[in-house]
Amino acid sequence: MQRVFWLIVIVTLGMFSLTACSTTSASAPEAQAVSGDTAQHGQMEHNMEHAGDEHGAGMAHAHVDPPSEYAQLTNPFAGDAVAIAAGQTIFDTNCATCHGPQGQGDGLAATGLNPKPANLADRQMLDSLSDGYLFWRVSEGGALAPFNSAMPAWKATLSEEQRWQVISYLRSLGR
Ligand code: HEC
Repeated sequence: MQRVFWLIVIVTLGMFSLTACSTTSASAPEAQAVSGDTAQHGQMEHNMEHAGDEHGAGMAHAHVDPPSEYAQLTNPFAGDAVAIAAGQTIFDTNCATCHGPQGQGDGLAATGLNPKPANLADRQMLDSLSDGYLFWRVSEGGALAPFNSAMPAWKATLSEEQRWQVISYLRSLGR
């Protein structure tokens, strides 16, 4: 009788450890596949740690100064209710798939992306980013160092006005 008891204990423990193993190993190849070459990955991790220091553990992605042609730009539609409404439509159509319906980085297409889409409803983070920075990121996307991300470049798809409108909307998120 005692032997049967121990057998059950051993089998149960075995099943638990198998489940634990398959959960951890499932995400590893995926992360490797997306992160590209190891040198880049190392750099990215460095930046991610840095960003984490500034914005807390949830904000694991890079922030660097925008190029000079973007740095001084300011939003001509800041706080404009009409621009915010237009920006919401642009966001729902083009951005929510990755950034999520409320901008929290949890869109349907976010699964498997590394780095993950930013949480654009993080008020503290958005307040720390300049208009020029946001306009740069929306215009040029993430296919450049240090970002190396799936964030698309929108300058060919959205007019300057539309990019500012969507930025007005981002600044209204979480308020
Ligand atoms: C294919 C998925 C995808 C779509 C669609 C997408 N993004 Fe992103 N976006 C990302 C990812 C991933 C990041 C995080 C990595 C990075 O900063 O490049 C990001 C980052 C950003 C950032 C930078 C945030 C920061 O903290 O530096 C902004 C701003 C942004 N997205 C705005 C938008 C807007 C506006 C749209 C729609 C016009 C959009 N994104 C559409 C994937 C996406």
